[in-house]
Amino acid sequence: MNINIFKIEEELDLAAANAVVNVINGNSNATLGLATGETPIGLYQKLVQAYENEQVSFKRVTTYNIDEYAGLGKAHPQSFYAFMKTHLFSKVNLSEGQFHIPNGVAVDLAGEAKRYEALLKVAGQLDVQILSIGLNGHIGFNEPGHTLRTETHVVNLTEETRQVNSKAFPSLTDVPKQAITMGLGTMMKAKKIVFIAKGEAKAAILKQAFNGPIDPLVPGSLLQLHPNLEVYLDTKAAKYLMELS
Ligand code: GLP
Repeated sequence: MNINIFKIEEELDLAAANAVVNVINGNSNATLGLATGETPIGLYQKLVQAYENEQVSFKRVTTYNIDEYAGLGKAHPQSFYAFMKTHLFSKVNLSEGQFHIPNGVAVDLAGEAKRYEALLKVAGQLDVQILSIGLNGHIGFNEPGHTLRTETHVVNLTEETRQVNSKAFPSLTDVPKQAITMGLGTMMKAKKIVFIAKGEAKAAILKQAFNGPIDPLVPGSLLQLHPNLEVYLDTKAAKYLMELS
């Protein structure tokens, strides 16, 4: 694990984006695993800037998002599809067919999870996987539990996650109760993981994830097993990890 700690958020975003840009510039057919949430927004802004400055092209890149809410279609403002369109897809040369997100409004959600997993199998090992962590240690929507699923699956969201994520919705009742998420096994197959976390609220869970035992009750702790994990943290999130860097 390679931990990079930044005082300035923009420098963190730039360093994490540069790690992704370097992968694409080393392989124009690169495959990327993408995450949503507030944390990677700055990274996506830096990717857009790099594209605008002709430092990177997404022309032959393919992307796979790690999750989507059940019941939210592409046009729903809180869908992860809409998030990705807003922050990245509409701003760089990535068009329909190049990016993939589980279909949250599939009639058969379990079937959709299988279809998505099959797509990932064809894609093979992703070149880089961007990840962050939820306050309860979840990765994508792999919630804490005594067993962790390795492949894409339908998940019941914990009440804690629904509460935390309700900040993006008009009210708690609008937050879906289920989602489709890539399993940790698939994410862990990526050649490189670019992990980002920001803010003091994440400090305690990061200590458990990166400085504690590997425990399915802290899904993020599984990332310790990845051979090429790059961690980008601000000083607040890194509060309890400084001694590891
Ligand atoms: C969501 C996503 C996760 C993300 C987490 C943290 O639940 N499924 O992929 O890591 O939220 O989001 P934020 O970056 O807003 O704290």
